[in-house]
Amino acid sequence: MTRKIFSRPFTQQEAISQEAIDAATEVLKTGRLHRYNTIEDELSQVSLLEQEYASYQGSRYCLACTSCGYALSISLKAAGLESDEYVLTNMYTLAPVPGAISNAGGRAIFVEINENLVLDLDDLAQKATSSGARFLLLSHMRGHIVDMNKLMRIVQEKNLVLIEDCAHTMGAKWEQKKSGNFGLAACFSTQTYKHLNSGEGGLITSDNAEFMARSIVLSGSYMFYERHGAAPEAEVFSDIHKSLFLLCCLCLEKKPSTQCWFSFSHYHLSKFQHSPCAL
Ligand SMILES: Cc1ncc(COP(=O)(O)O)c(C=O)c1O
Repeated sequence: MTRKIFSRPFTQQEAISQEAIDAATEVLKTGRLHRYNTIEDELSQVSLLEQEYASYQGSRYCLACTSCGYALSISLKAAGLESDEYVLTNMYTLAPVPGAISNAGGRAIFVEINENLVLDLDDLAQKATSSGARFLLLSHMRGHIVDMNKLMRIVQEKNLVLIEDCAHTMGAKWEQKKSGNFGLAACFSTQTYKHLNSGEGGLITSDNAEFMARSIVLSGSYMFYERHGAAPEAEVFSDIHKSLFLLCCLCLEKKPSTQCWFSFSHYHLSKFQHSPCAL
């Protein structure tokens, strides 16, 4: 097999094609730039992207966000990371990755890498045991993918929740399986130096309905879920609303605040306010 060597500068993007400029201009002319700002049965450009990317990736769900760093942070929270909990992650990664762990309220435990720039699996196993961490945020740095068969054995043995940071491996595969399809979820970047260039942007993919519903809510959405292009069914969201509502009630009792009320009212309070016992 002849291997293609990438020989162009990493930090100098190709010009945007005329076709892409025309497509963007068409959207600008409508003025409907927000994902929910659609007419009749129209699907927004964001929803279309989510559908297309889910299909490309081979995943059930996809959420478009403002960046991969933001996507990582949302994913950790949606996966159930608790305050001050440990997250295993590569020693060799980019600052937004430990940044996302910190933003999500977690604490990074850095795992060594080897001469091939991928995770040292002995160190991973050892640190998973000594820390008791439940989460592994794995960056496939510079397109180098660790032996995923061995890694997944450790993930299963140590009962880890795997989130893949595929900022550098959009479209790459390990033994015919796309990077991003090994764990609970994967995050991709469309920042200007990456495989797709939207200036800034990120994508989360997953096959897990509850995880994706939580991610969508955490990304700032509080209604119109049906307008998301590759989202779970509506009932998955109503289950999540119930637990959020309960959380808001507990929170309000303890310490009523404007922020609390804001969350309260935005999580479809009206849907549940007449039957709180049903919770
Ligand atoms: C390995 C890695 N992960 C995550 C990110 C964050 O991506 P974004 O810039 O879309 O937040 C980057 C950004 O370059 C990265 O290199």
